[in-house]
Amino acid sequence: MQPLAKVAITRKIHSAAEELLRSAQCEVWVNPEARPLQREELCAIARDYDAMICLLSDRIDEEIFSAAKRLRIVANYAVGFDNIDIPAATRRGIAVANTPDVLTNATAELAWALLLSVARRVVEGDRLVRAGEFHGWDPLMLLGYEVAGKTLGIIGAGRIGTAMARRARGFDMRILYTRPSGPRREMDELGAQHVELETLLCESDFISIHTPLTPATRHMIGRPQFELMKPTAILINTGRGPVVDEAALADALANRRIAGAGLDVYEYEPKVEPALLALDNVVLLPHIGSATFEARAAMARLAAENVLDALRGKVPRTCLNPEYQQYCGVPPRD
Ligand code: GLV
Ligand code: GLV
Repeated sequence: MQPLAKVAITRKIHSAAEELLRSAQCEVWVNPEARPLQREELCAIARDYDAMICLLSDRIDEEIFSAAKRLRIVANYAVGFDNIDIPAATRRGIAVANTPDVLTNATAELAWALLLSVARRVVEGDRLVRAGEFHGWDPLMLLGYEVAGKTLGIIGAGRIGTAMARRARGFDMRILYTRPSGPRREMDELGAQHVELETLLCESDFISIHTPLTPATRHMIGRPQFELMKPTAILINTGRGPVVDEAALADALANRRIAGAGLDVYEYEPKVEPALLALDNVVLLPHIGSATFEARAAMARLAAENVLDALRGKVPRTCLNPEYQQYCGVPPRD
């Protein structure tokens, strides 16, 4: 590896990344401020650094890549990578990597936390107690939906969707799933059934979204899809906000077209559709799917390992565009 390769981290993350990079003799710059970097600052990093560790909220697009002079890798501190224009990186021989696997359990656990919170009205209950409105056991207070024996529909049975399904077995649930590339062996081994989206929407009591955001999945769940759901259905989204038409969701919840929702991600993050804020039948979290001590430390290590792989001339271990190698050292095709 070249001595003193320069690595920029666009926001303070778990210190494991910096430690690993410094112990490998990298010069590391970490954004000292608790704010996202501006476009010009990202361009300057692309121009002046050998490697960048960025967040899902940093849009790394053609403009940023076109500033790159010596940049070898962009390592996303996330499993999702819809914030990065991968073809633009590939054309310039720049590797892009993400942090899969290490946040699978954390995200599946949060999806379950949301599912149970909405089904059993946990947040409404907490608000009631704090408001001094708990006047004793009430036979009709805060009735919710039982989970045992119900049908769970998993949209996008990748790593996290499969981890979600595995946990559903403990609740004796029937599991349906969709996956664009067809049935998945791990899901079939759990007794889950691969179905069309329409069947999943019609038959599920709980629907959990785990698909990445792509042009094909944007607004995959909108008005026509809410029409197909049971009036008792509960929708959970810990994937990406724009997969759901948020205005249509707010209408469906307000009109009791569906019973409830639990969201960790938003269409125009960090903005939240104002109509949702006024509703009791939705639980809203601030994109904390991977926010466990364990996952964030492991993500930091993995992002740094990806950077070191690239700086050592190897294909990063969780590279998203191995074909970048074909373009290393050749002028970019603009
Ligand atoms: C979080 O949303 C991630 O993609 O890691
Ligand atoms: C990624 O999208 C996953 O399911 O891990």
